[in-house]
Amino acid sequence: MTRAHQLKVAILISGRGSNMAAIARACAAGRVQATIARVIADRATAAGVVLARQLGLEAEVIEAREGAGRAAFEAALMRSLQDCGAELVILAGFMRILSADFVQHFAGRMLNIHPSLLPQYKGLNTHRRVLEAGEREHGTSVHFVTDELDGGPVICQARVAVLAGDSEQTLEARVLALEHRIYPYVVGLIATDRLELRGHTVVLDGRALTAPLFYPHDDELKQATA
Ligand code: GAR
Repeated sequence: MTRAHQLKVAILISGRGSNMAAIARACAAGRVQATIARVIADRATAAGVVLARQLGLEAEVIEAREGAGRAAFEAALMRSLQDCGAELVILAGFMRILSADFVQHFAGRMLNIHPSLLPQYKGLNTHRRVLEAGEREHGTSVHFVTDELDGGPVICQARVAVLAGDSEQTLEARVLALEHRIYPYVVGLIATDRLELRGHTVVLDGRALTAPLFYPHDDELKQATA
């Protein structure tokens, strides 16, 4: 590890928080050299808030007040991120669209995980839409966040086969299991200064990625997440 201190990350959630927990466990186990400064939920009812506290993490709820609008919400969120010293913002099932200005502030320092093989199936209900379209494969993508929804440069993907008889739930469960492997891995690459965004190019170990890292085809990724 070359950096003088552990990377401080904030994780933003809206729901269950299983990806947040996977990253937290990887940090606690020393597999990822990062410190979770704060978990922030935009819904008081998010189950992930309870889970975060069970994991010993500081969890805060910032709800968008009715009528107050996005600007007030984002101002509160920005204060919280600055207050906890977050150097990397990790969206993990965070279902709110952030403004272009907000995203720009964290250019190259904000990640998202999206349950599809981007650029296919941006947006909501990806598992259902994949099943309805009769696709034979599906997956998940970790990407840098830009102001284009689900459109930022993709860092890493994992693929699953769609099986005969799959329901949304069975398909989601297999995708989620892979998310829990690849998301901590990508955070670890950033925490050790191996991965960064230069312009629109993802750079790993000083070289531009010509295609996303692919689980399980990438050997290092496979080993690191075994
Ligand atoms: C994950 O599958 C994530 O990919 C998806 O929400 C789920 C959150 O699960 N994110 C999106 O759909 C963002 N557009 P979790 O709360 O258990 O981590």
